[in-house]
Amino acid sequence: MPIDMAVVPVAGRGTRLLPMTKSQPKEMLPVGRKPVVQYVVEELSRCGLGRLLFVTGPGKTAIENHFDIDLELITNLRETGREELLEELAFERQDLEYFYTRQRRQLGLGHAVLCAKPVVGREPFVVALGDSIIGINAESKVVRVMVEQFESSGADVVIAFEQVPRDEVVHYGIAKPRQKADIFDLDDLIEKPDVAEAPSTLAVAARYVFSPLIFDYLEKTEPGKGGEIQLTDAIRAMIHEGHKALGVCLPAGERRFDIGNFESYFQSFTEFALADPDYGPALQEFLVDWLAKHGTNRAEKYR
Ligand code: G1P
Repeated sequence: MPIDMAVVPVAGRGTRLLPMTKSQPKEMLPVGRKPVVQYVVEELSRCGLGRLLFVTGPGKTAIENHFDIDLELITNLRETGREELLEELAFERQDLEYFYTRQRRQLGLGHAVLCAKPVVGREPFVVALGDSIIGINAESKVVRVMVEQFESSGADVVIAFEQVPRDEVVHYGIAKPRQKADIFDLDDLIEKPDVAEAPSTLAVAARYVFSPLIFDYLEKTEPGKGGEIQLTDAIRAMIHEGHKALGVCLPAGERRFDIGNFESYFQSFTEFALADPDYGPALQEFLVDWLAKHGTNRAEKYR
């Protein structure tokens, strides 16, 4: 049976984005016109996934509401002659099944994925982190490539990677690849290494495909970096015990937009807004004028 299930962990508190995330989930932050998690769902749907399991936590009900069909709103738009806005709600009607479970204690990403076990059972599945968009407007098909690789190679794990500047390796799971290629065997994976210890600059790009074996390893994984049960540590143990793991690099021109910190969030919002067919051109003009008038030092004034 082809892989049909995607697990979307959305339980993290988003503390790096406070105060913005005090009472709203970081996955609901707007990037351009849509909240982050809507891009994630649209990407997964385009890649052929039909069942989505969100692993949620405290304060995350806005995500569930967002994917419900809101009949009252639809009726109101019809009755007030604003039918053109119905197009904006088309995502509600995608042919997808939604499931929700809760991570009842904040024990880390590995633990969040383990919370999916009773629903997923013994079938392979995708994991897509709910705070990262792949490709501008989530146009990436990398998950489809990863699923094909998973099915044809007999690997137990396939992970998406992207090159990051060396000083950023401290924020990500970092690959030790066996070959220098776009699709490579993974020799090891280190969670947020120091710059000096990083075996490469290939960072986990928020998309994974797993065989159900990952659950057996997660159950045995002790808390690691930051006192959390790390997904990376379970993958690492699988590799060390001889299970095959593959890395798939994001294709040239595609990148991950990480909505987990302000620097990357601000950049992502700006890029998506600039790519907007209606509002992008005017925004670009505004920015060019603004920079010409104020130079690049304006931000200094507000420090
Ligand atoms: C998690 C993973 C890390 C990965 C990152 C982005 O970290 O633990 O390996 O590189 O997501 O995909 P977090 O951002 O939750 O700290």
